Amino acid sequence: MKINIITVSQIPQNPECLVVGLDKGGNFKKHPSFKLLTPNDGNFVVKALGMENNLSEKKPIVLSLPSDPSRKVILLGIPTGKSWNGRRRQAAVRKVVLQAKDSKAKQVTLFLNDFSLTKMADDVSVRTTVENILMADFSFNKYKEVPKGGWPEIKSVNIVVPRLNKSLAKALEEGIIVGEEVNHCRVLSNTPGGDMTPEKLAEFAVEEGKRIKSLKVTVLEEKEIEKLGMGGVIGVSRGSAERPKFIIMEYWGADKSKKPIVFVGKGVTFDTGGLNLKPSEGIYEMHMDMSGGAAVINALSAIAKLKLRINVVGIVPAVENMPSGSSYHPGDVLKSITGKTIEVLNTDAEGRVILADGLGYAERYKPELLVDIATLTGAAIVALGQRVSALFTNNEKLESLAKSVGEMSGDEVWPLPLWDEYADDIQGTFGDVANTGKTRYGGAISGAIFLKQFVGDYPWIHLDIAPTMTTIEGQNLAKGASGVGVRFLVELAREYSRR
Ligand code: BES
Ligand code: MN
Ligand code: ZN
Repeated sequence: MKINIITVSQIPQNPECLVVGLDKGGNFKKHPSFKLLTPNDGNFVVKALGMENNLSEKKPIVLSLPSDPSRKVILLGIPTGKSWNGRRRQAAVRKVVLQAKDSKAKQVTLFLNDFSLTKMADDVSVRTTVENILMADFSFNKYKEVPKGGWPEIKSVNIVVPRLNKSLAKALEEGIIVGEEVNHCRVLSNTPGGDMTPEKLAEFAVEEGKRIKSLKVTVLEEKEIEKLGMGGVIGVSRGSAERPKFIIMEYWGADKSKKPIVFVGKGVTFDTGGLNLKPSEGIYEMHMDMSGGAAVINALSAIAKLKLRINVVGIVPAVENMPSGSSYHPGDVLKSITGKTIEVLNTDAEGRVILADGLGYAERYKPELLVDIATLTGAAIVALGQRVSALFTNNEKLESLAKSVGEMSGDEVWPLPLWDEYADDIQGTFGDVANTGKTRYGGAISGAIFLKQFVGDYPWIHLDIAPTMTTIEGQNLAKGASGVGVRFLVELAREYSRR
């Protein structure tokens, strides 16, 4: 798919598929697309609009033009006022893509201003529109036979902007970079566990390092992981025939003396639960348990391609959590890289065990900001549903920053508490910290407060992305992995690069 930004005067003759977003009472005759139609076609659209009194962005109308039925107009109702927000806007942009694909359109023309939010600058509007167009265009077909005539494909999308300038051209490029990295993250997460092992994930990161010159990628092998004292990573990996990998990606885009921000992503390539084996319903999508790690890898690629003036390090401990004769056991006490010991009460709470080492390793960078991202707990899904990720932080200012970064990027987050009192729940009996709480309540918080024991005093954000790991109906995205986190991490890096 090729995405272009153009002005009204550059709209191709007889555009194949025009997208028209009208607010309530909006007059089509005043919409810039009206002039592009023959009077007869124009009146036909006006008439159709007259017969519709409940036009929304959720159920667009698709009209075939009388002069040439192969040409379409897609009509959407765009609400005005507060109800038109970023979440609805991004779903609407994606809907356009799905609808156009459905109508077998090859070329689509839409108007930026139809979708814009009042507070949104044009460059941000272009960038996020592009991201969402690409996200909607994505489907995971690698494992399917190509149908006769190929997969439906939109060849080009024209975004009509008020005027062309450098900043919008840059926004287009940036939107393409980020949208493609989000989609690539979805490929990594969607790839079945049998094909996406710690080794494969590490290989991909190494390939990225070869493709992108400014990215330095290092993979620590089992021996080095052990030598460094990462008992958590080693412990969880023991049940699997796949050996653990510890992936480190460095991007030095600012003066090397400046402290980096460090991202740590959970890279469990398949989570069976280990000896505390998951029930059938629970195990189904666990090949996506490396989604946080994939988000970190693809965010680093995006940040490097965007050439942000900032230092960023990505860390992904990658393991497979399997039950076998060599598995770690409930009751085992593992020594983390920080020296703190972890009492394993449940082998299915494995994410926090490997992240303890990931966070502990991050210490050597003296991070300006530490962020971990993980499909950590089912409890976060119970708490929030599937529309927003859980946010935890040890810093009040970071809470509001993270919320606004979430809103800006489209990867929304919502705060949960992290009071010291919660640490009582994970007191170890035979080790320093237990990997689960004493009750089944507040599981997302138990996970977060566990991680907090390994971050020291650095400003820190923990995102539990279990809620948003997969797409849900109404988001107008292909079934499967959502690619959550890439946009958040990139936007956060962008924010810090401005400081
Ligand atoms: N990877 C799971 C969490 C998860 C569940 C992510 C569903 C996405 C969808 C994690 O490793 C896990 O198993 N957590 C346990 C923790 C419990 C044993 C304390 C959970 O949430 O049940
Ligand atoms: Mn688990
Ligand atoms: Zn897990």
